[in-house]
Amino acid sequence: MPDALRRESATDLGVEAIPMERYLSREFHELEVEKVWRRVWQMACREEAIPNVGDHIVYDIVDDSFLIVRTGPNEIKAFVNACLHRGRRLRTEGGCVPNFRCPFHGFTWNIDGTFAENPSSWDFPQINSERFSLPQVKVDTWGGFVFINMDRNAPPLEVFLEDLPDHFKHRPLEDRYTSIHIAKVIPANWKVTAEAFLESFHLVATHPQLLGSTSDESTEYSVWPGRRHISRAITVAGHSSPHMKGTDDDTIMSNYLLNRQYYGRAMEGRDLVADDLAVGEGQTPREFIAEQLRNQLKPLLGEEAAEAATDCEILDPIAYTVFPNFAPWMAAGPSLVYRFRPNGDDHESSIIDVMFLSPYPPGTERPRPAEVKWLREDQEWTDAEELGRLGPVLNQDANNIPEVQRGMKTLQHFRRGLMMSRYQESRIRHFHQTLMEYIKQ
Ligand code: FES
Ligand SMILES: [Fe+2]
Repeated sequence: MPDALRRESATDLGVEAIPMERYLSREFHELEVEKVWRRVWQMACREEAIPNVGDHIVYDIVDDSFLIVRTGPNEIKAFVNACLHRGRRLRTEGGCVPNFRCPFHGFTWNIDGTFAENPSSWDFPQINSERFSLPQVKVDTWGGFVFINMDRNAPPLEVFLEDLPDHFKHRPLEDRYTSIHIAKVIPANWKVTAEAFLESFHLVATHPQLLGSTSDESTEYSVWPGRRHISRAITVAGHSSPHMKGTDDDTIMSNYLLNRQYYGRAMEGRDLVADDLAVGEGQTPREFIAEQLRNQLKPLLGEEAAEAATDCEILDPIAYTVFPNFAPWMAAGPSLVYRFRPNGDDHESSIIDVMFLSPYPPGTERPRPAEVKWLREDQEWTDAEELGRLGPVLNQDANNIPEVQRGMKTLQHFRRGLMMSRYQESRIRHFHQTLMEYIKQ
């Protein structure tokens, strides 16, 4: 039998299938906690969320809790968020404090983590103040994001991020501000949630309204040799889907106006309107829409930078993923950023963060970042009006995610695993390859 055929039949038998226990079993979740969450670099917050000394946020991942604190104008530290006396969590939410005083008996630590005082020091002769600092975990920053890592032997963040900093060199995310930040609990394993954003294959059934101006099946999916943490998908916009043969230019234009772009809200500009629709001689709808959006971006980026941006950077979703759970998109205008993580210790519940990082006019002051706005479980994404036309799209995604979790519970007794496509789902397979490398190490 030729090799290619042998491989095909192995695939049919489910050799490349993804076992459903990875989403359903408690044991696998516990392995992930030890082998993934306690070893990876994970995005904890934006630097701009803690601008002043003493500002901090509480970052919780599964059962672990950390204080991410600005300890100096150019210094951020991450401490274990627990009192060294009897273990109470020092802070339940972020803010700005002069020191960390435990609400239980009053043990107090300075902002830099050194021990300050204890109300009954005579009763604790065993405490050596010098050695009673809050335990720290590794912190580093990239793109205006603060990352932490619990593993003291972890490689540096810049190594972990592989080629990502290089790819984003000309679109630095540290120069953006958080214009929108919405968070919501989704009743599904965090990987079911994350994987719903790793391919554009689902557009044909889940978001059919987008097909008139999104070329779903023409998406370029990239994984790179020797790169296990990053992958990318670029989906062509301003062009109709191969599933919609013969779509005329007007339909592409009106479909784009109706559905595709959500720049308006994210950059406090205006959405394109029908009046803008006058495709020039010899222009494709894609070129035309890019030109309109480029004009809208000029006040934000400056004339020269807007002119230099490619149509792809202006129009197309350029979706990067950093293992395990961070997805910064690249764009000339506002960039979408997703983060997916378990909701506490519940392996059948996840938290999704949806952020927009928007440019602001050169030479002006950085606008204040948006606070995190939590949607309740019974709310829809369209209740976050600031998401504009992304809201209905996320509602459609949210319609699938818990149903995948439900369906797998029965399916696991009948099939060895989930089936993945060769190309369009290659990023999911790449993700699982890396996941299993972590689990097995
Ligand atoms: S537990 Fe914090 S002071 Fe006692
Ligand atoms: Fe989707």
